[in-house]
Amino acid sequence: MKIVTHNKNKYLEYKEKFYEYGIKLDWVNIEYMEIQSDDPMKIVYESVEYVKKIVEEPFFLEDAGLNIKSLNGFPGPYSSYVHNKIKNSGILKLMQNIEDRSAEFYAIIGYFDGNETHLFKGSVKGKIIEEEKGVNGFGYDPIFKPNNSDKTFGEMDIKEKNSFSHRSMAFNEFIEYLKKFGEKNKI
Ligand code: IMP
Repeated sequence: MKIVTHNKNKYLEYKEKFYEYGIKLDWVNIEYMEIQSDDPMKIVYESVEYVKKIVEEPFFLEDAGLNIKSLNGFPGPYSSYVHNKIKNSGILKLMQNIEDRSAEFYAIIGYFDGNETHLFKGSVKGKIIEEEKGVNGFGYDPIFKPNNSDKTFGEMDIKEKNSFSHRSMAFNEFIEYLKKFGEKNKI
């Protein structure tokens, strides 16, 4: 299977998941154009449209983001831009004195089988904690603690993060599809 991403952490997280199924993951490390939209499904669909002109199918890519409830879902589809600009410390500042710290990570996989694009979604609910904890992972990992865990994603290794993460939930949908319809000879 081929993943198209510029994010090494994403590749490593998926690599671990595919490994469990005996599937080798090939990393196409390129940056591709992403449209701006409030609808993450549309962003993924259009990204696939763009990438299929330059990468040989089958491949998948993924778009993820963080929705903070008390900020009306911000930063959502702008998660990458916001993280680059204000970092985790900026989010914590925005959240000062806010009691409801509920948040949700989502990930949407776009898989192009050579014919059609298939979308798979995963999400995980949790809380934005008061201060950064842990040095693992990337992005908002050190400030997000999934429900039913006493650790942030930043304090987990890949295997543990995968047992909770939005990414592995999307993967689970994807692998069920592949088992039924795709890449049959490789599973
Ligand atoms: P994108 O899917 O690369 O556009 O990701 C958007 C942004 O969301 C990233 O730059 C990260 O800041 C954040 N993000 C996405 N997934 C994760 C994750 O698993 N942990 C922490 N931050 C994430």
